Amino acid sequence: MENTEACAPTGDQSVERLTELRPDDLEMLNRLVIESHWNQVPADWYFFFDRGHVLVMRDAQSRIIASGAVLPMDADASGHRVAWISMILVLPEVRGQGLGRRVFEACLRSAQAAAYLPMLDATPQGEPLYTQFGFVPLSHITRWRREARGDRAFIAPTPQANQQADPQALVALDRRVLGFGRSALINSLQDRPTTHVVHSSQGFFLVRAGRTAHHIGPLVAEDEGHALELLKQAVDAVKTPLLIDAPQQGPAFTAALQAAGFLPQRDFTRMAWLPPGRTLPQGQPHLIHAIAGPEFA
Ligand SMILES: CC(C)(COP(=O)(O)OP(=O)(O)OC[C@H]1O[C@@H](n2cnc3c(N)ncnc32)[C@H](O)[C@@H]1OP(=O)(O)O)[C@@H](O)C(=O)NCCC(=O)NCCS
Repeated sequence: MENTEACAPTGDQSVERLTELRPDDLEMLNRLVIESHWNQVPADWYFFFDRGHVLVMRDAQSRIIASGAVLPMDADASGHRVAWISMILVLPEVRGQGLGRRVFEACLRSAQAAAYLPMLDATPQGEPLYTQFGFVPLSHITRWRREARGDRAFIAPTPQANQQADPQALVALDRRVLGFGRSALINSLQDRPTTHVVHSSQGFFLVRAGRTAHHIGPLVAEDEGHALELLKQAVDAVKTPLLIDAPQQGPAFTAALQAAGFLPQRDFTRMAWLPPGRTLPQGQPHLIHAIAGPEFA
């Protein structure tokens, strides 16, 4: 196919790495998101394509029926890099036929071939597959959702809020707590016109627009009191449906989510594939009150 290059086939159907993101391909990728009831928008696919790899499988009519993405993060001081694997999606009508396994295996082999440390956030549907490839669970994350409030209008970022944001200091804090950097991602999310950013000396949060809901994350705070204050600001900033993916928290953060009208929706499991001799990135996970999202770490 003109717009693709072949990846090593892992079965009778080959997995292809997109070398161009054409409008018809983007439409089919978005269909995968819609049919899986996920929240990503075209800007997310463009980011995966620009900064990582998008792998796909097609049917006989050349329609995309399965996807995966590999997103290399920043190198650490020793040159080691995490690659985040995500967007493992198969159209519902062709699930259970081995496509998910093949597209995931191609993502994993691509990360391993570049000596990246593969990590991901698994849905309950994906977790058994990743376990079969040797991924181990590290922690659990709960997705919470709050339905729309009031007039559904998104309140644009206030100049006051964004003036406080120092993009580079924010990127540095994100790197410290996560244990690895993702500067391109954080800068790109901050630059989206609909993103709301609040940053202070004690932490920060981003709220970005998604397909069906705005998404709070990352939310990083040096202590619980500040985390609760940032959560309140994030929740008050948006009247549309809202999602937040919170690592397991103390009772005060959970109570604040419930008081703001959030209900738990599903769990994710953070997982890594750790080759012998490699260690996990060391961050300060207790300061992460919301992840960027399962697709972005
Ligand atoms: C998860 C998903 C990608 C699997 O794709 P698939 O093509 O159906 O998967 P495969 O046929 O290749 O099966 C691979 C493994 O997935 C798991 N799996 C597949 N269907 C499953 C089901 N109905 N229930 C539980 N596990 C299932 C099994 O572990 C299976 O391994 P097995 O064949 O040894 O039992 C697909 O169900 C999907 O798109 N789900 C919605 C999006 C999602 O949650 N993606 C994972 C993100 S982390």
